[in-house]
Amino acid sequence: MISPNYQITQSPILLMARRAAELRAANHDVIDLTLGEPDFTAPSHVIEAALQAMQQRLGYTPANGLPALRQAIRDRMEADRRLNYDDDQVAVGCGAKQIIFNAFFATLKRGDDVLIPAPYWASYPDMIRMCGASPVVLPTTAAEGFKITPEHLAAALKLSKRPRWLVLNAPGNPSGALYSKRDLEALAEVLRRYPEVMILSDDIYAEILYVSESYSTLAAVAPDLAERVLIVDGVSKAYAMTGWRVGWGCGPRALIAAITSVQSQNCTQTSTLSQHAAIAALNGPRDFLQERNEIYRQRRDAAMNILSSSMALDVTSPEGAFYLLPKIKGITDDQKLAYDLLTSGVATVPGSAFGMPGHIRLSFATDQASLVEGCKRLVAALVSEK
Ligand SMILES: Cc1ncc(COP(=O)(O)O)c(C=O)c1O
Repeated sequence: MISPNYQITQSPILLMARRAAELRAANHDVIDLTLGEPDFTAPSHVIEAALQAMQQRLGYTPANGLPALRQAIRDRMEADRRLNYDDDQVAVGCGAKQIIFNAFFATLKRGDDVLIPAPYWASYPDMIRMCGASPVVLPTTAAEGFKITPEHLAAALKLSKRPRWLVLNAPGNPSGALYSKRDLEALAEVLRRYPEVMILSDDIYAEILYVSESYSTLAAVAPDLAERVLIVDGVSKAYAMTGWRVGWGCGPRALIAAITSVQSQNCTQTSTLSQHAAIAALNGPRDFLQERNEIYRQRRDAAMNILSSSMALDVTSPEGAFYLLPKIKGITDDQKLAYDLLTSGVATVPGSAFGMPGHIRLSFATDQASLVEGCKRLVAALVSEK
């Protein structure tokens, strides 16, 4: 008899995506707006580099990744975020997801709290529970731009007996909210009073932006805190390389060493082939990033046009990433709504998976025609629900 250690559920995003795929396989006309997965392929120079790498013998690499990949990550960190890391401050894993898990696993114990602003990426709370600690959710509102305020952070830190980590994810999944330099400076003021708290800066969407200001990240805004910040990033989103499974963490040496130990004791390293591809992605031409962002922006605006004309929901235009998080008026059971919407031909994810009951999440990382049709179906279904 199998008796799992934890009450861990499968990612609700993956469950809804699977349901949509099953319906489509059974010839139902369902538009899938569930997954945060770019519909582009990897850039052609990346595919070329991978084809070349396949001709070599592909053996194990160090658990923290190929030295050339760590160097490429350091170069990008310096060029894009003005952050300098030494080689032993970088670890590569099977996606940003594994780096986050390894970091929690290496540092958390029973009784520890991890503060997560909501809306949050659905995997954080379960990862924290799997490591024996407790997620402490800090709700935010659309009026606050879905961002925690310094007052809110200070109050939550004061209440927690053992705050161990604060998670900051910007642009946020699923809010698309960005923290400005000023916002981060204000949060840094509070964090200085709590030296035992580490900060997970999940920057996986940093390159998918619809604003003109350059991206701000806590470790650069408050260099005195950098010793407590783990930046997490990867090739999944900006480079449309979700299935290649390459992500990384940059941060304090002791934490990176611990993350590497956890990595070495479970899957050793991420795929050697994928690491070669990631080197090409990071060192190669970057014009496509701008071009793809423009396409995402057009999709966002097309979806916003349809959704904002509906009286049945309220929606904010995101500043980055590729999600919309409409609040559906008068809805309490968003899980039931998401299942009902499947019968109306559109697959979404219930907002409660992100700590936002009464909302649903749509991904606009899909072609514009499907997105527009999916939004029309959603709006029509909400009218007939009334
Ligand atoms: C906020 C956030 N962090 C991390 C990840 C994980 O990314 P990866 O594919 O690199 O594991 C995701 C993926 O959806 C995400 O949305």
